[in-house]
Amino acid sequence: MQIYDFDKPVDRRGTGSLKYDALQERYGNPRLLPLWVADMDFETPPFITDALRRRLDHSLFGYTVEPPEYFDSIIKWIYDRHGWNVKRDWLSFIPGVVKGIGMAVNVFVKEDEKVIIQPPVYHPFRLTPLGNKRKVVMNPLKRNGDGTYSMDFDNLAAVADDKCRMLILSNPHNPAGIVWDRDTLARLARFCHSRNIIVISDEIHCDMALWGNRHIPFATVSEEAAACCITFGAPSKTFNIAGIVSSYSIIPDDRLRARFHEWLAANEFNEPTLFAPIATIAAFSQEGEQWRNQMLRYVEGNIGFIADYCRENIPEIVPLRPQASFLVWLDCRRLGLDHDGLTSLFVKEAGLALNDGEMFGLGGEGFMRLNAATRRAVLEEALDRLRSAVGRIR
Ligand SMILES: Cc1ncc(COP(=O)(O)O)c(C=O)c1O
Repeated sequence: MQIYDFDKPVDRRGTGSLKYDALQERYGNPRLLPLWVADMDFETPPFITDALRRRLDHSLFGYTVEPPEYFDSIIKWIYDRHGWNVKRDWLSFIPGVVKGIGMAVNVFVKEDEKVIIQPPVYHPFRLTPLGNKRKVVMNPLKRNGDGTYSMDFDNLAAVADDKCRMLILSNPHNPAGIVWDRDTLARLARFCHSRNIIVISDEIHCDMALWGNRHIPFATVSEEAAACCITFGAPSKTFNIAGIVSSYSIIPDDRLRARFHEWLAANEFNEPTLFAPIATIAAFSQEGEQWRNQMLRYVEGNIGFIADYCRENIPEIVPLRPQASFLVWLDCRRLGLDHDGLTSLFVKEAGLALNDGEMFGLGGEGFMRLNAATRRAVLEEALDRLRSAVGRIR
């Protein structure tokens, strides 16, 4: 039975929403239709807001400890969804996945050492190590004839020298929505383990596999993987609670875990804020599972709508069908525009704010990333505007 209404309009302007309230600052026009930063325009589900509200009704917000069921709710959720038996002591709260990446870089990568990334990929994978004065080594993904991507193991072997200490993996992959297969992950684990490279497996999109695809946690593919990885996860993308800031790390290996947990504890970064466990427990529940399923079916419908619309009306723009999450990687190269021409087409001509592909690094040129987690009617309006704009330059 359909319980949740994803067609319900929610006015997010004036709520401190990055997606809406930073349009002037980021794109120079507050009236653009925002289809960029990766949160959803769907209301955070009522069982989460009710749980938060119940705590707000007690109007004293002093120092807190997490409720005992906090870590159990994460363990059960991961086991039920992904079959991974996470032990309690492998887990820690972390204050955000990007912050987790920054912390891991500081703990494990010396100033003269390097971090490998596989662009096009979520831009903080590059910016966070660079901002911390670590060198970044590129192993670009290979684009296959059908528009899908593979990891380039030959190039990885060529670029990974003995200064490479870490590889950051987007699993599933943002921006192309790839659910990595077991063989690829196991091969990556073999390579990294043999070179003493720590794999940061960012699994923030893991609960949003689409069309029957199945997410495989990196740590579960082999003993080598478990021995060399730190996994980061969160309910923030799936349940639209990024603003609450509730994330976790999972480290099966004793030695890696001891070092990371010691550093987290020394800086008290492992201590959740009051609302993080409350929102997480409410999300990782039976109601959460029902909401997640209904949300994903709606997102699949949106992605199908975008594919049909582009094929029929804007054949110059070819969307890659994501295997996970709500981000659609648009191949716009047939428009024959350079970077400025492409951004101007979307922003100035069509009045749309998308993420421009170049920000995701090598291989992103000529692409745009569209956030499909919005009302179907908004997508229709956006694509109508894009069709007219493309029509004017044909
Ligand atoms: C792959 C990936 N990792 C991390 C994040 C952000 O996580 P957080 O808000 O916990 O830093 C995003 C958000 O778009 C993402 O796509």
